[in-house]
Amino acid sequence: MTLVESLRQRSHEIFASVVAHRRHLHAHPELSYQEVNTAAYVAEQLKAMGLVPQTGVGGTGVTALVQGTAGASDRVTALRADMDALPIHEGNAVAYKSTVPGVMHACGHDVHTASLLGTARLLYEHRQHFSGVVKLIFQPGEEKNPGGASYMIRDGVLQNPAPLSIIGQHVMPLLPVGTIGFREGKYMASSDEIYLRVIGKGGHAAAPELTIDPVVIASHIVIALQQVISRNASPKEPTVLSFGRFIAEGITNIIPNEATLAGTFRALNEEWREKGLQKIETLARQMAASMGAVCEVDISRGYPYLENNPTLTRRIKKAAQAYVGDANVVDIDLTLGSEDFAYYSHVVPASFYRLGTRNEAKGITSYVHTPTFDIDEEALKIGPGLMAWMAVEELGL
Ligand code: NI
Repeated sequence: MTLVESLRQRSHEIFASVVAHRRHLHAHPELSYQEVNTAAYVAEQLKAMGLVPQTGVGGTGVTALVQGTAGASDRVTALRADMDALPIHEGNAVAYKSTVPGVMHACGHDVHTASLLGTARLLYEHRQHFSGVVKLIFQPGEEKNPGGASYMIRDGVLQNPAPLSIIGQHVMPLLPVGTIGFREGKYMASSDEIYLRVIGKGGHAAAPELTIDPVVIASHIVIALQQVISRNASPKEPTVLSFGRFIAEGITNIIPNEATLAGTFRALNEEWREKGLQKIETLARQMAASMGAVCEVDISRGYPYLENNPTLTRRIKKAAQAYVGDANVVDIDLTLGSEDFAYYSHVVPASFYRLGTRNEAKGITSYVHTPTFDIDEEALKIGPGLMAWMAVEELGL
């Protein structure tokens, strides 16, 4: 039996245990940077396999090394899974439903963690078939700024030993189960949060001449800021600015003192990102000033854009074709969503690919970050072995 055949077979054989991991994690979700029990569970499982986990990396992160014993090699590749859940109340009526009110694994990070535990087991079982080291990274805080990846990098996760490449897997409810999606180059956007506070002067709505109306001024600002996108960004660079919050708490006959806005700015180019943020801040301030108000601007910087290294992506895509067959490997489009795996991609060749989890026949179609999100667990027959195969192929170069 070839190595890929053996990984495929064992991935099927350990399926029930990987599903058990996933269901345990799903039932016991923890919010970003609070993954204490999740990290303990991961460490315990790794120990039970014969690995030596390192805990407390970048907060609640866990790492472990799987050393190949086929020969001497200093090659190292890294595999990453995120562990945190979201502040969403689960709406699914399933046996493994979240036991924590208001907290749910609604982005599949339970799936990523369970899958990587399966990968760890498969790699350890097959260690005599490869040389070099696979570094397993179980990361906290993907969902919340500044991103657990930044803390793990700060704590040296990409050193000692330093991986030549890093691979991340994420569920995708738009892709049918059995399908794996790849994209070379820029894949996901940087994401910064924009908070504006327009301070005017409230008063009687029937005497606007005695007020500095923050509602009208903030409205102008929202419209004007769209010009930063349409007139300052290159049409060749995808970018977006959306305000989802506009609060002015007056009433029909009272103009309030202030209005507050919150929005998100996305880009796929760091130079434009800096320039765009500056333009947004300057325009908001000056526009308010020109109408006699003050605009306070608070920008919370998020993740950078995510770049899938083209040669690495071609290699792992080829590995996936060998693993699941050409027909089950697809190219996917870029998205203005964001993901903190991006941090790794600015340090080391990185690739973030998608594991299809949709099954219309079973009614599994809900998008991530919704109360009814779920996956077709059949995807966990593929995930663990596929990732193990990608890592082995990386080391075999
Ligand atoms: Ni996610």
